[in-house]
Amino acid sequence: MIYLDNAATTLQKPESVIDAVVNAMRTQGNASRGAHNATLSASRTVYDARVKIAKFFNFDEPSNVIFTCNSTEALNIAINGTIKEGYRVISTDTEHNSVLRPLYHLEKTKNIDLNFVKADENGILGISDFEKLIDDRTKVVVVNHISNLTGNVNDIKKISEITHRKGAILIVDGSQSAGTRKVDVKELGIDIYCFTGHKGLLGPQGTGGLLVKDGIEIDAWKRGGSGVKTYEEDQPLDYPTRLEAGTLNSHGIAGLSVAIDYLNEIGIENVEKRELELTRYFYEEIIKIPGVKVYGDFSWIGDSNKSVNAVSDSFLGHAGIVSLNVKDYDSGEVSDALSNDYCIATRPGAHCAPRLHIALGTKYQGAVRFSFSYFTTYEELGVAIGALKDIAS
Ligand SMILES: Cc1ncc(COP(=O)(O)O)c(C=O)c1O
Repeated sequence: MIYLDNAATTLQKPESVIDAVVNAMRTQGNASRGAHNATLSASRTVYDARVKIAKFFNFDEPSNVIFTCNSTEALNIAINGTIKEGYRVISTDTEHNSVLRPLYHLEKTKNIDLNFVKADENGILGISDFEKLIDDRTKVVVVNHISNLTGNVNDIKKISEITHRKGAILIVDGSQSAGTRKVDVKELGIDIYCFTGHKGLLGPQGTGGLLVKDGIEIDAWKRGGSGVKTYEEDQPLDYPTRLEAGTLNSHGIAGLSVAIDYLNEIGIENVEKRELELTRYFYEEIIKIPGVKVYGDFSWIGDSNKSVNAVSDSFLGHAGIVSLNVKDYDSGEVSDALSNDYCIATRPGAHCAPRLHIALGTKYQGAVRFSFSYFTTYEELGVAIGALKDIAS
């Protein structure tokens, strides 16, 4: 199979990650529950993972690295734990349902004043619209780093400057940026960064988390055993315990920890460059095919004078995601044809991004999403380009 559905989950995991999970299942006890060798081994693994993750994202507080089972859970914790009755909240048309649904729920239950920055027909968000919507009454801004549908990269640094100038906090959905590009949460000015372990980070499913900047208060969302302060009636207030009641997925965390080692060995800048090069190659070939329509902002990718060596902290560029349609064919049928006739895995339909599909005009047709990873090869993309040519003709 040619796997081009990495924005959903990465399928090719480093062997070292698989070995780490198996080894943890054979050897680890329950982290923070007692002091025998097996439990200490689990505690050390979890602690090491917090330290590595903090360093990976240039974040200062390992104990404010909170583990969850995915970014949906992290986003729910961040959104529900910071937004109070009547708050003015700004989000965008490009969000995933893991942001939209918790916000819509708070609109109904806590009467929040919810406003969205509009996406244009290429899925681009205007910075001037953030300036207009984020005002002195705004308390929280929630925005994705990278759209899972178009691969457009949002200018988090600018959005953060506007948010902080107005005294609000910034929650970033990093589901598509963690592990696919360099993310420096300090440089970008992020207050809460939510990530998932099973996509770009190359870790196991069931892992993810949030990085909570010092001083940001998030209400406990579950209460229970923590292995510490047992006689206190309330959930302890210290991070990470405040948000981590119950046994952690230390087997998965062991795999995630080794996945971070793997990415550090390759160098995250090299992952980013590789995905940009693959995306440029794919994009430049498919736009030549009559009947293929691509969605998103490819102004950087489409400019062949720009070199991938220009990748830097402030660089936006584009993620390894290309969504398209072929003529007026249903996206599900095209994706099925790619799978059945060419053994190519893609993702059709709505991608849990309802507002963005409406903005792109693809509510009924959906779109076929191709998404790459560090392991994707040019040969695989060549087969996919050939398949699209066949289908279009
Ligand atoms: C932008 C974005 N946000 C959130 C999520 C949710 O991720 P998870 O299913 O790992 O919770 C996804 C996954 O597709 C995503 O692409």
